[in-house]
Amino acid sequence: MLRKIHHVGIVVRNLEEAFGFYRDTLGLPVHKTAVVEDQGVKAALLTIGQSEIELLEPINPNGGVAKFLERRGEGLHHICFETDDVAAELAATKAKGIDLIDQAPRKGLAGMICFLHPRANHGVLVEYAQPFD
Ligand code: CO
Repeated sequence: MLRKIHHVGIVVRNLEEAFGFYRDTLGLPVHKTAVVEDQGVKAALLTIGQSEIELLEPINPNGGVAKFLERRGEGLHHICFETDDVAAELAATKAKGIDLIDQAPRKGLAGMICFLHPRANHGVLVEYAQPFD
């Protein structure tokens, strides 16, 4: 079962510059930053109530996020729904014939995660996340 919007992912050119708005102007606390190698990004999670904003700065020019930035510029990249069982959620989605990017959950900044293909979701890249805690 999907419980809530866990986070909204935003691609930025430079994480430190983006903190100037999201952290300093909006006042959202940064509670986690990490390099996520398999997504080719340096990422940060900022808390907003029960949800989060995920900022993604590409560090690998051949990665999907770098290509997104090149093609479309900075902006909204994906929406992530929280689940308490990402493997079951992914299997149920696959059984409904939805196009997936990930065939199995993998480790991401927000926990165990997976992505569905945007063509299955009316143009929006959708992520599922099961937080580690
Ligand atoms: Co995300």
